[in-house]
Amino acid sequence: MISDTLPAPATSPGLPFGALATQPADALLGLIALHRADERPQKIDLGVGVFRDDAGTTPVLRAVKAAEAALLETQMTKAYLGAEGDATYAALLGGVLFGDRPADERLHGVQTPGGTGALRLGAELVARADRAARVWIGAPTWPNHAPIFAEAGLATRSHRFYDAATGGIDFDAMLADLTEARAGDILLLHGCCHNPTGAELTPAQWSAIAELCASRGLIPFIDLAYQGLGDGLAQDAAATRMMFAALPTALVAYSCDKNFGLYRERVGAFWALSANGAIAERVRTNILSLARSLWSMPPDHGAAIVRTILENAALRRDWQHELEAMRVRLNGLRTALAATHPRLSAIADQRGMFAMLPLTPASVATLREEHGIYMAANGRINIAGLRAETVPFFAHALRPHLDAESTTP
Ligand code: LMR
Repeated sequence: MISDTLPAPATSPGLPFGALATQPADALLGLIALHRADERPQKIDLGVGVFRDDAGTTPVLRAVKAAEAALLETQMTKAYLGAEGDATYAALLGGVLFGDRPADERLHGVQTPGGTGALRLGAELVARADRAARVWIGAPTWPNHAPIFAEAGLATRSHRFYDAATGGIDFDAMLADLTEARAGDILLLHGCCHNPTGAELTPAQWSAIAELCASRGLIPFIDLAYQGLGDGLAQDAAATRMMFAALPTALVAYSCDKNFGLYRERVGAFWALSANGAIAERVRTNILSLARSLWSMPPDHGAAIVRTILENAALRRDWQHELEAMRVRLNGLRTALAATHPRLSAIADQRGMFAMLPLTPASVATLREEHGIYMAANGRINIAGLRAETVPFFAHALRPHLDAESTTP
């Protein structure tokens, strides 16, 4: 018997796994379970960023259903594609992102498992190229940003960004903090629809950031997870296009989770722009070898859906209509919510799925306990979780907290 030959189980806390510290559960994802367990019918889920329609559901898009039906008929093999994934998908999606940018041997893109995969791939690429590079991240940001870079072995630095008093960006403070950035450091930027604040950099501020990157040798790493949900497909990509035109080196992590509604399919892409063709070729081989060790090959189904939509004119048009309806709904809810209290007025001009309400964690907890309203502890709400008819109920529940906190010194 095998058990006769095995040593007695060791219980020493010195064993490798015994040395692991218990990790806290992800607070954002934890909201899904908390909301699900709440039996109050009037409960509102403003937690994790998934789009919801007026009925409160997150349906599979028509264009996605049609593409899936087409794939079922036409896909003849599930054989491996390789570490770069579906090259046609990356080329077509590159067209959506970069518009009519001419073909460029300095730019290379690959399919990744979601935007998170793209961020991690970029982080590993940076770490392999220069372990001393620091990653500058504005505060606040998506809670997964810093861990992704830290797990790749990179140091992160925080710079000021959001001005809670105005609901806008404290650009002077951001620039002041970035005077400490060194050549070769990475500057993480949200391409549009800032998560969690919805606060958008103006075109003039983007130009100033491009100039800063050029003069100080900083490398922008743009996280673009909401193209089309702010002001439109071209408008939401304008800052990324400008940065990629103005600078020799730039990175972008792209997610199709929200704009194609493909969340759990994990569809993303990563592009790197390099200073010249020879360096780009080295970058390309490093991207592929990193992807091979991280996930070997990205999952195909979601990317095949996006490719099918983008290569078919009718499906592409239908997807654009559906995306426009999502954007119109988000911006309509923004206007409605902003009108309910003076302290929420900035929400009308912010963009994307999120806004950060001026609430204390205690108020966030009270709203959950007393009204069944679920949001992140920092006051971030997913705007799409609201419906025209729930805005008054939500505003009524918020009012005492907004009034009280505005008088708190
Ligand atoms: C969010 O910020 O809610 C989404 O991007 C979902 C996630 O993975 O956190």
